[in-house]
Amino acid sequence: MRKRRTRPAGAELRHCDTGGMPAAPPPVPSVAALPAGLATLADHEAHARTRLDDNAWAYFSGGAGDEITLRANRGAWDALQLHPRVLRPLQGGNTRVQLLGRELAHPILVAPVAFQRMAHADGELATAHAACALGAGLVLSTQASTSLETIATAIAHEPTRGPLWFQLYLQHDRGFTRELVQRAEQAGYEALMLTVDAPTSGARDRERRAGFQVPPHAAAVHLAALPPAPPVALEPGQSAMFDALLRHAPTWDDVQWLQSISRLPVLLKGIAHAEDARQAAVLQVAGLIVSNHGGRTLDTMPPTAALLPPIVDAVGTALPVLVDGGIRRGTDVLKAMALGARAVLVGRPVVWGLANAGAVGVAHVLRLLRDELEIAMALCGCARLADCSPRMLWPGSP
Ligand SMILES: Cc1cc2nc3c(=O)[nH]c(=O)nc-3n(C[C@H](O)[C@H](O)[C@H](O)COP(=O)(O)O)c2cc1C
Repeated sequence: MRKRRTRPAGAELRHCDTGGMPAAPPPVPSVAALPAGLATLADHEAHARTRLDDNAWAYFSGGAGDEITLRANRGAWDALQLHPRVLRPLQGGNTRVQLLGRELAHPILVAPVAFQRMAHADGELATAHAACALGAGLVLSTQASTSLETIATAIAHEPTRGPLWFQLYLQHDRGFTRELVQRAEQAGYEALMLTVDAPTSGARDRERRAGFQVPPHAAAVHLAALPPAPPVALEPGQSAMFDALLRHAPTWDDVQWLQSISRLPVLLKGIAHAEDARQAAVLQVAGLIVSNHGGRTLDTMPPTAALLPPIVDAVGTALPVLVDGGIRRGTDVLKAMALGARAVLVGRPVVWGLANAGAVGVAHVLRLLRDELEIAMALCGCARLADCSPRMLWPGSP
C-alpha cells in the first residue's frame, strides 16, 4: 500500500451522540474506498458475507461443533453491564496502556489469523499497514499467507506502529520450529505468542460441510518447507490420534525449551484455567492470552469474559493478561479492562474489514473500536485505563 493511502480510514469519525452539547462535532465525512453504510463491526460482518465465497466464509466465520462457545463469547460481553460514574474530570484522559515495556496508544491488538490472502489479495500486508496506521499491535500467524520478513520489512520502522509479535505453532520438527523462531527474531519481531489451546483442530462442522480447502494462493508460506512427519507404525490398541498425530503436541517442557532457545519474551495464548495460569507464572512467561480460539477449538467451554477474572486473580500483577473472543464493541474492550485485562485482541472483525476494503477496511474496523472505546470511557467517567476495575461493572451482571 502506498504511503498516502495509509491514513486511517474513518480517521474523521467523531462521537455522534453529543447529548445536545453545544460544541457538536462536524458530520462524518464519507470515506473513500469504503463501501457505504458501514458504521459498526456488525455492519462489516454482514458486508463481508457478500464479498467472501462459501469456502472462505465457512473458514473465517465458523466455530467448533454447535458453535455454543462462539456464540457465548459474544453473549457474555453483552451481558456485562457498565455502571457509569459522572462529574469526574476527563481532561487529559487517554487510551494508553503499558505492555511488555512499551507504551501503546490503545489496548487493541490484531489477533493471529491464518490464510488472510483468502480474504483479500493484499492479505496480511494490508492488515499490517492498517494496524500500523492505527497504532494497533499485530500478531502474525505461523499459518500466514505472507512471509514474516515481508511484514516486518514493510512496517518494522514505522514510527506509529504498535508491537509486532509472531504467533507460534510448535511443529513436529523442532529443528524447523527453531529456525522459524530465529527468522522471527532476526526480522525484528518483539515477542513470541505460543498457541497452546490447539494441539489439534476443533471439530469444525461448517468447514466440513463446505468441503473447506485453502486455495493455493493463500497457503501457509512459513510451512511450505516443513518436512512431513515420519510415519508411525501403530501397535495394536494404539490411537492414531494420541500416539501419532499428538505425539509431538506441546507440553510445559516445550514452553521451557522455547524460552531457552530465544531471547524474545514468550506469551502463552489459549490459557483458560487458573491452575495453568499459575504454572505459566512459575515459568516466568511474559504474558497470558485468555482465549478459547474464538470458539474454534473446544466447543462448550466457557466464554472468555467468564474465564478472565479467575485467571487475573491467579496471577495478580505478576504478568499481563490479555483476552480475545467476541470483542466487537468499544464497550467490550472497556469491560475486558474492567475485568483486569491489559489489552484485547480481535480476530474475525479484522478479516471482515480486509474482505470489505483491504487495508482501508481493516483500519476502519480498528478505528471504530478505538473511537467506541473512547466514548465508553468518557461516558463511564474513566479517563485512564489503568483506573479500570470491576467496580465499573454493575454488580448484578454475570
Ligand atoms: C479464521 C481464523 C483463523 C485463526 N488462525 C489462528 C492462528 O493461525 N493462530 C492462532 O493462534 N489463532 C488463530 N485464530 C484465533 C484468533 O487468534 C483469536 O483467538 C480469535 O479469532 C478471537 O476471537 P474473535 O474472532 O471472536 O475475535 C484464528 C481465528 C480465526 C477466526
